[in-house]
Amino acid sequence: MTTQTLMIGQTLWFEGDAMQIGVEAARYNRRGALLIEGGKVVARGEAETLQTSYPQAKVVDYGEGLILPGFVDSHMHYPQTRMIASWGKRLIDWLNSYTFPEEMTLADPDEARARADLTLDLALAHGTTTQVSYCTIHPCSVDAFFEAAATRGMRVFAGKTCMDRNAPEGLCDTPQTAYDQSKELLAKWHGVGRAEYVITPRFSPTSTPEQLEALGALWAEHPDCLMQTHLSEQTDEIDWVKSLFPNAKDYLDTYETFGLLGQRALYGHVIHLEPREADRLAEVGAAVVHCPTSNTFIGSGIFEAAKLASRGIRVGLATDTGGGSSFSMLRTMAAAYEIGQLAGTALHPAQLLWLATEGSARALHAQDRIGTLAIGSEADITVLDLASTPAIAQRHDRANDIWEAVFPTIMMGDDRAVKSVWVGGVQVQPK
Ligand code: GUN
Ligand code: ZN
Repeated sequence: MTTQTLMIGQTLWFEGDAMQIGVEAARYNRRGALLIEGGKVVARGEAETLQTSYPQAKVVDYGEGLILPGFVDSHMHYPQTRMIASWGKRLIDWLNSYTFPEEMTLADPDEARARADLTLDLALAHGTTTQVSYCTIHPCSVDAFFEAAATRGMRVFAGKTCMDRNAPEGLCDTPQTAYDQSKELLAKWHGVGRAEYVITPRFSPTSTPEQLEALGALWAEHPDCLMQTHLSEQTDEIDWVKSLFPNAKDYLDTYETFGLLGQRALYGHVIHLEPREADRLAEVGAAVVHCPTSNTFIGSGIFEAAKLASRGIRVGLATDTGGGSSFSMLRTMAAAYEIGQLAGTALHPAQLLWLATEGSARALHAQDRIGTLAIGSEADITVLDLASTPAIAQRHDRANDIWEAVFPTIMMGDDRAVKSVWVGGVQVQPK
């Protein structure tokens, strides 16, 4: 007989899209429980009821701890972990000065594995159970990330970052090698254990039309894969794209022309959109990813989460490390709140939590596996301490409801607020 675990605490989940219907989408149990068996959530309800129904289950009682789906970071770059908080540059200079030299170091498989181990350990310590990562051009960087994730039992999404121009020679391949190596890695990893391969052209400026076309062809052969790239992050970048693709209608068109627009597309940043681009994203059903700490850190601009969501566009939330300035999805939610205020919409704590869990999972078409506490979902769970520091605790003490209780942790919390993390039904934090 497999072991049953009854996890007790405050439970919070969603029934419906919180970006569309707000707090009404949230469900909360003051003393709730999840029954976990075989790595999945198999029952959910009141603690007392489930304890009576499953007297043989091993009880793990988190008391006042808040039990949530593990956080889903839907856009980040694991090779950039060690260059987080690099000072003073905007996107193109930041890439050339810091990012590309750093990514060169992953030509060494040992270095790649060390970076992957470090990144995934940091993720778990911050309550993030799934990452969607760009790797580098080097196939060994993809192997390293998927192997390190498999060691930890984590569901991850990643792909070889393809470039064939406007990058140092050591980081460029060709249309053919990008296609061949991506195809080989996809065959090796996609659907193996909890690994999902993502076709990954970095962004239009670093790929020739031929390379974009080759990757569009690969995606057409594997339509069940996600495709990730960057879109309209900074105005200088957009001007550059227009000069490189003079016949394109706009930035998004440089992807669509080569078969790189679809329902399983995931575009990071998406700040300076033209109306036609927003219309196309909505029509096609593509997803966009909000990277708020990065957008302020690199000086990119204000992402309009509420406006895009109101068009029915799926929105994920992400750290975008190392352009982002924090590994914490709590800090990322806080930044999303602050950006929302600047954009004219105060996102409700329910919406922030939704973006960091089920919203990101939906952006990945993975909400049947992760990002929820639904029966049948994989038991990737993060338990928060809502009074993790004296500063947070004194505000938490005055809370009148769950939203006032959780908002100080969203705004002021970090890895100290992460009480416990479970991956696939196994406790991984604290170690
Ligand atoms: N655009 C192209 N590459 C990158 C990257 O690594 N980080 C960010 N923030 N934007 C990019
Ligand atoms: Zn990025």
